[in-house]
Amino acid sequence: MFRFSLLLIGSTILSGACGGQGEDAAVRPPVTLTGEAKVKWDTLCVTCHGNKGTGDGPSAAPLAVKPRSFGDATWQGSVTDEHLAKVIVEGGKAVGKSELMPANPDLANKKDVVAKLVKKVRSFRP
Ligand code: HEC
Repeated sequence: MFRFSLLLIGSTILSGACGGQGEDAAVRPPVTLTGEAKVKWDTLCVTCHGNKGTGDGPSAAPLAVKPRSFGDATWQGSVTDEHLAKVIVEGGKAVGKSELMPANPDLANKKDVVAKLVKKVRSFRP
């Protein structure tokens, strides 16, 4: 899958724009999660944030505060990766947002898992 993605962004790599992150590539490769990050995303995050990050997962319906769409470019540009990592580990309340965004204290010492989830959130950037 990753190899396939690389083929898709082959032109980007050839132009020397690939810094190993693929973060600001003109064509952003789809993020395929693995391991614990995948389990978290598939079993928890999507229930509220939805498969496409639009905030319309089934568990979001009854919430007083709805998750925003991760596809909101203005919002994406307004938050740092550090902020996203903090929200994911410490919950919405830790950054002055709704406590309906739950904390994930089990990820506190799993920087790699958190980094993958941050990357996933970034992948919805238009
Ligand atoms: C119970 C529902 C629920 C679950 C599960 C959930 N979230 Fe959220 N999330 C929310 C809500 C509601 C907000 C909006 C908070 C606000 O804007 O005040 C939010 C906001 C966010 C934000 C944006 C914070 C900001 O500064 O605007 C990110 C990033 C995020 N969630 C990531 C995740 C990730 C990653 C997971 C899985 C580990 C996850 N969420 C699981 C409900 C949820």
